[in-house]
Amino acid sequence: MNDGQRPLWSGRFGIRPAPEAAALGRSVGFDVRLAPHDVAAGIAHVAALRDASVLGEADADRLTAALAEVGQAIADGTLAIDEVDEDVHSVVERAVTERLGDLGARLHAGRSRNDLVVTDLRLWLLEAARRLTGLTTLAIRTLVRRAREEADTPMPGTTHARPAQVVTLGHHLAAHAWALLRDLDRLDAWAGRTSTSPLGAGAVATSTLGLDPAATADRLGFERPFENSIDAVSDRDFVQEFLGVATIEATHLSRLAADLARWTDPALAWAELDEAYSTGSSMMPQKRNPDTAELSRAKAARITAAFVAVSGTLHGLPLGYQRDLQEDKEPAFDAAETLERVLAATVGVLDTLRIDRDAMRTAAAAAELFATDVAEALVRAGVPFRDAHRRTGELLRTLDGDGRSLVDLTPEEWAAFGLPEGGVLLDPERSVAARGTPGGPSPESVLRQAGAIEERLASRSTGRTGRSA
Ligand code: ARG
Repeated sequence: MNDGQRPLWSGRFGIRPAPEAAALGRSVGFDVRLAPHDVAAGIAHVAALRDASVLGEADADRLTAALAEVGQAIADGTLAIDEVDEDVHSVVERAVTERLGDLGARLHAGRSRNDLVVTDLRLWLLEAARRLTGLTTLAIRTLVRRAREEADTPMPGTTHARPAQVVTLGHHLAAHAWALLRDLDRLDAWAGRTSTSPLGAGAVATSTLGLDPAATADRLGFERPFENSIDAVSDRDFVQEFLGVATIEATHLSRLAADLARWTDPALAWAELDEAYSTGSSMMPQKRNPDTAELSRAKAARITAAFVAVSGTLHGLPLGYQRDLQEDKEPAFDAAETLERVLAATVGVLDTLRIDRDAMRTAAAAAELFATDVAEALVRAGVPFRDAHRRTGELLRTLDGDGRSLVDLTPEEWAAFGLPEGGVLLDPERSVAARGTPGGPSPESVLRQAGAIEERLASRSTGRTGRSA
């Protein structure tokens, strides 16, 4: 057996792994994504070996150059991934050794794939989180822009998806923005906690070589080194928490997509998706389907499944590296990449959505939406709310029986009901304006919210970097 084709750990073994065992364990097909970080971690480790005088200056330089070259070759797609390569760490080390011969064999001193893999994965997820943070910010800004535009567009507010009270479309759009702002906070806080370097922890117990994990952490841009080598190689709560944060954000985007699919349903026709974000039917020529919204709605399930898969893998697992932990990567990659695609598409959909203000306003003028305004007018006139609720309900019941509604009441009937000016209540603009309560649906409130959200975004970008907890 040619040495170059043997697994990294083959010294103690007389034969190669069975092909089906190797096939089960091989992760290079997906963990090759970690290559740039594996190279960066390798270079930081070489510096640590040099500082500890395990490597001479010249050897350290040659190793560093070879690592960089391997990283470039992987990025260019010119480095062949060998049959025997288990994972990205094996690929990088093998390629360095092919270039440097005996010197390559010095690279892995004092490190293990156990500390390497979590270093790489933290770096990969931190980078993914920075892209998600950027896209989430863009989604919030787009929602805020649309909310300002629709600050005074009346819309039926719903409970149980049925007409409830008049709101403004701006208020509803701002509600989605507030949810995404919390996701942004969660991503920031997660990034702060995740900025811990595990490199130097070795397999489980560090090494005897006198490496300095703090210097390594610094070189890799982490805020701090690990405090406990067992924790460093065992812990995957950064993956689990990332997936939890991603699950919540995907759920928010799913609910936004559900609203968009509903509003653009021709049965309501309150809004229309741009052609670029609609799909046709292969059979029915007339169709313009909201596939982008539907897929965004569904992807939350897949991201939730990733959280469940990793949580399932971790629970009950004793500390110390076990190969089970390799199962963290596919769900993490898939969830991050899926969320990124959903966010990008959501921004496009929101940016190009056409609102039919007349259709929305007409729907918001439906008499039933003012029943609560009527009851509250009685309350302001001194009637206890329970009585007001009952009296309004009885009025609606009588009107219903006559095939009439609140809009059909004559001034005399209003007066008899105890609200001589009752007719003026049935106006969507008046209804939302009357609810100027902080956090309410009035146009002023929407503009206040938009300003508050923008302030939060601004203080986030000038204040904390997103890497601190
Ligand atoms: N591919 C492995 C993983 O993703 C790398 C660590 C392997 N360590 C080991 N002791 N077999 O977890």
